[in-house]
Amino acid sequence: MLIVRDAAALAAAVSAWRDAGDRVAVVPTMGYLHEGHLALVARARELAQRVIATIFVNPTQFAPHEDLGRYPRDEAGDVAKLETAGCDLLFAPPVEVMYPPGFATRIAMGGPAEGLEGTHRPQMFAGVALVCSRIFGLTRADVAVFGEKDWQQVMVVRRVVEDLAIPVAIETVPTVRAVDGLALSSRNAYLDPEARVKAAAMYAALTQAAERLKAGATSAEACGEAEERLREAGFRQVDYVALRSAREFSELGRLDEPARVLGAAWLGQVRLIDNLPV
Ligand code: PAF
Repeated sequence: MLIVRDAAALAAAVSAWRDAGDRVAVVPTMGYLHEGHLALVARARELAQRVIATIFVNPTQFAPHEDLGRYPRDEAGDVAKLETAGCDLLFAPPVEVMYPPGFATRIAMGGPAEGLEGTHRPQMFAGVALVCSRIFGLTRADVAVFGEKDWQQVMVVRRVVEDLAIPVAIETVPTVRAVDGLALSSRNAYLDPEARVKAAAMYAALTQAAERLKAGATSAEACGEAEERLREAGFRQVDYVALRSAREFSELGRLDEPARVLGAAWLGQVRLIDNLPV
């Protein structure tokens, strides 16, 4: 696997592949890779002859009070995992390559960036839209693969790609879960053993909400019960449990089209998010 940290070396590798007629897939990540990320790489390998993974802890998507400085990092471990997964190239640029001196573009996101994560982390999707647009431009990938765990992020990336006519297809892979249902996430590293046990309640609460919705409950009923269940399980604050249309990401009063039930809540100082198809 090639490890590349500058834009020129990346462009040279990608040009050689494209000249040879190979399709290129990219898997954007912030590193500290787990089985969920490796499932994205596996899907990318099915979709293209060449697979790029990016590792970049993107400062523009973190608010000043958030965990940018302590976000878990393990590049050596990530390299070993990507090699085993059959990744062709790791692009792991420093900040000054992703955002060179003079970089001045900002993206203001409406539509699917509004509400839920957009309310609780107002800086997040502008930063995701910006970094993903730059990754798509630098890699010139034909297809990019994202995890369904961050469903709202996927909606935002699809919107940006369509609105800015960026020639990349967006593919998604279902969330990979631990045996107790907890969605794999790099931030699970923040959970102490006691919190790790409680964390499984997120999946249980969303699963129960999905069942209630399928049985005809309103979104207010099903989501309200799930929020209550999270509090009983020891979550100190529930940011939201919500039902959204899977296609438009609009709010739904009840289940009358393909949808996602999404939740975000705090276990101590750790914020967990998850969602399920329903
Ligand atoms: O999901 C992530 O890890 C990040 O938000 C992404 C898509 C790599 C952009 O920094």
